[in-house]
Amino acid sequence: MIHKREYTKDKADQFIKASKHSLRTDYRLNYHLMAEYGWMNDPNGFVQYRGQYHLFYQHYPYKPIWGPMHWGHAISTDLIKWEYLPIALAPDGEFDRDGCFSGSAIEKDGQLMLLYTGHVVTGPDKDQDYKQSQGLAVSDDGVTFEKWQGNPVIGYKEIPPDVSQKDFRDPKVFMKNGQYYVVLGSNDAKGNGLVLLYRSDDLKQWTFVNVLASSDGRFGDNWECPDLFPLGNKDIFMLSPQRMPAQGEQFRNLHSTMYCVGEFDSEMGKFHSEAFAQVDHGFDFYAPQSTLDDQGRRIIIGWMDMWEAGMPTQQGHEWAGAMSLPRKIELDGNRILFSPVEEIEKYRSNLYEIHDVVLDQVIDIQSSGDSYELQTDFEAGSAEEFGLKLRVGSDEETILSYRPEEGLFTLNRDKSGLGPGGERRVHVRLDNGHLKLRIFVDKSSVEVFIGDGEHVVTARIYPGPQSLGIQAFAKGTAKLVSLYKWDIL
Ligand code: FRU
Repeated sequence: MIHKREYTKDKADQFIKASKHSLRTDYRLNYHLMAEYGWMNDPNGFVQYRGQYHLFYQHYPYKPIWGPMHWGHAISTDLIKWEYLPIALAPDGEFDRDGCFSGSAIEKDGQLMLLYTGHVVTGPDKDQDYKQSQGLAVSDDGVTFEKWQGNPVIGYKEIPPDVSQKDFRDPKVFMKNGQYYVVLGSNDAKGNGLVLLYRSDDLKQWTFVNVLASSDGRFGDNWECPDLFPLGNKDIFMLSPQRMPAQGEQFRNLHSTMYCVGEFDSEMGKFHSEAFAQVDHGFDFYAPQSTLDDQGRRIIIGWMDMWEAGMPTQQGHEWAGAMSLPRKIELDGNRILFSPVEEIEKYRSNLYEIHDVVLDQVIDIQSSGDSYELQTDFEAGSAEEFGLKLRVGSDEETILSYRPEEGLFTLNRDKSGLGPGGERRVHVRLDNGHLKLRIFVDKSSVEVFIGDGEHVVTARIYPGPQSLGIQAFAKGTAKLVSLYKWDIL
């Protein structure tokens, strides 16, 4: 362990270079981004700059645990294969001495600008005694970032009264009508999450506009990682509420993600919400961030893990945390439809397919693996339940099932190997009696895109290396109209 005062970008880079070969690779993912070594949480600074996608991330390089946050950095031309760049930010300043927390990126006059939260511990209890403010870092080449000497650009004094004076973080910057805005996560200090809106002409001088939105008691006690962007003919406000109470089958994780569809009034600084839903219905998806690319696609990536959930790779593997697949989002009425970015299809190989299989028991699919895409079309028929078992081994399986009577899709990971078990459910309607799934399995993850993409269910799973089987099943009679499988990578 090095003393925190000595955290620098160079030290982190050297440490990673010297250590990365000692990682245990069993659960390392093939087509999802992870830290090169150590810990990763939130995606940060997701942006396309000079023809490349940049993704930064909350990073503690020295151990597979959360610690004084650095910003890791990776670039890609296709959002699937990433190349690591040097650490972009280390907690080496006054206002960010205990962590460079989450933030975002924007291009201005050819430079790449990062806005992020500087975290400072102010007393003996690091979970209670802290303050946060916002800083700017600037790059001419998208590789090396210099912190602005006038930091913080939004200081403690610019926090309005009647809101938390310490939870003040995760600036997401965007431009509207020639002005810059940031949304920032906070709470009212009385148990309700809220988001603050600031405006600027130059990214350096910021003026508080308004409380953009706040919880009415149902949506958690603190809001993290807000995002605000137009989609179709509406605006989307996306956020990660902490300790949000469950609503039926929804929002059952300790912390949740949700999106609201509505209208952003930038003059008043208010978001008028018309509808809301969960971003992902699984166990492991948090702090998503979006970007708009040069093809006009709005793409989100989330951290494919959850706070306070056991992560088996923290024991002896020297890494923890991964990003979800990048997901393109589109608006359909008041719903967002999610689909994996098309680029993933370039990495398909070894097509296996079967058609028109009557299912009235468990059958083995004659193909297996731990890194693949599956596309299935089930006809529910008269079955009481049907679905798939993935990563099947002697005592292991991860079950995806559907019960037509209740209209419930379920992911069960009680027998998925190491790590936490449990079940997540989501109400899904059949489409003309059919259930279509698009599933991505990657070593220690599974992501299920259901039907037209309104629902996605994501989970980390840690089966043994021999658990590679795939089965289909039904109780009663259903039909597997088609199943396509491609290895990915
Ligand atoms: C969300 C979060 C952010 C914070 C960061 C710290 O997962 O808690 O609010 O900036 O992680 O790593």
